[in-house]
Amino acid sequence: MAAYASRYPDIPVLLIGRLAVDRRYQKQNVGGIVLALVREWAETSLIPFRLLALDVDPSNKGAIAFYQREGFDLTPVMRNGMHVMVYDLGER
Ligand SMILES: CC(C)(COP(=O)(O)OP(=O)(O)OC[C@H]1O[C@@H](n2cnc3c(N)ncnc32)[C@H](O)[C@@H]1OP(=O)(O)O)[C@@H](O)C(=O)NCCC(=O)NCCS
Repeated sequence: MAAYASRYPDIPVLLIGRLAVDRRYQKQNVGGIVLALVREWAETSLIPFRLLALDVDPSNKGAIAFYQREGFDLTPVMRNGMHVMVYDLGER
């Protein structure tokens, strides 16, 4: 069983819970900087993260545009009525 499992390793995903910038500071690249820090942390973590993932409300077009600009892809996966978006960190 262990040998079988090792041929199908897990895909470690870092799930970003909630990202929100105070209204007064939106559109000033604060969100972009926070995501860059998260990416850097995930890329250098001892855990070999492959994907960043997050849920976004389908009606939140601004947030979807923001995450797409930051390199996230919209997936067809829905969770509790939310779209799952992912960012591929690449192989390590
Ligand atoms: C989404 C959010 C985190 C982005 O943070 P931010 O600091 O404003 O983003 P940045 O300044 O780094 O990036 C701005 C870019 O993102 C996109 N964007 C962000 N908010 C947008 C909006 N309301 N409508 C359209 N585009 C938007 C645009 O491409 C924008 O670029 P532009 O200024 O050249 O048009 C922030 O707007 C926010 O807190 N929103 C409310 C909470 C929320 O919806 N969080 C996401 C939950 S999943």
